[in-house]
Amino acid sequence: MNQPIGVFDSGYGGLTVLREIVHTLPQYDYLYLGDNARTPYGTRSFDTVYQYTLECVRHLFDRGCRLVILACNTASAKALRNIQQLDLPTMYPGLDGPDRRVLGVIRPTTEVIGTYSKTGQVGILATRGTVTSESYRVEIEKFFPGLQVFQEACPMWVPLVENGEYASAGADYFVQQHIDRLVAQSPDIDTILLACTHYPLLLDKIRQYVPGLDGPDNTTILTQGSIVAYSLADYLIRHPELEQQISQHGRRTFLTTDSTEDFDRQATVFYGESVRSEHLAL
Ligand code: DGL
Repeated sequence: MNQPIGVFDSGYGGLTVLREIVHTLPQYDYLYLGDNARTPYGTRSFDTVYQYTLECVRHLFDRGCRLVILACNTASAKALRNIQQLDLPTMYPGLDGPDRRVLGVIRPTTEVIGTYSKTGQVGILATRGTVTSESYRVEIEKFFPGLQVFQEACPMWVPLVENGEYASAGADYFVQQHIDRLVAQSPDIDTILLACTHYPLLLDKIRQYVPGLDGPDNTTILTQGSIVAYSLADYLIRHPELEQQISQHGRRTFLTTDSTEDFDRQATVFYGESVRSEHLAL
């Protein structure tokens, strides 16, 4: 029986997370769904992100997934709680709670972020949706009370990445603009989280504009892929009843709601291996 782990993103960004998950846990089957036809999510309303995400999660469940990872901060910020608290209990009631699970990327990241900072000041770069949800601030306060959080929304970054412009000269303008605005909020920010799964593609440019990267008190730039992968490995150890249901043939399947040709070309860059996707009409 095919029961892969579902991995969802609004587009290509979740592939940067899937890549690390597959590296850490290669034995499982994975089903990736990129909602490229409706990306970006970061500028959309709470209700729209929730409805789009729920639709995609349902599809992944219909295809056999028992566990779905929202490899998208915006969906994790705006849809995860509703799906966990309102939808799963009614859609998939079990004796000890819902028998399907959905996990996000914000919680695993906020559980560890404070361990990277010496100054107690961290910067969050994210979509407008993630920033205005205040999810990072709220979750960080639970694990690292007193850690100061500075946020900057970067609405142009996802379109740059989705359109393959992440290495272009035009991208420099928007990367520098948002880095400058973040560091202007405090000179003591020593940890910067790329809280959008698309942003690792801009890492080379981001590094050019973050001051103090090579100094003695150098700034740490955090991406989420390996953090989420380790957290998932730990989760599966703690939930053997779920882990035993996941099929283990090392299969990777990719779905996109937009053009498969575009997806296959672009996805290779994010995922690090060539990809052949199937079209999904929602
Ligand atoms: N990768 C999504 C995130 O982590 C991008 C959101 C978007 O589509 O705007 O937030």
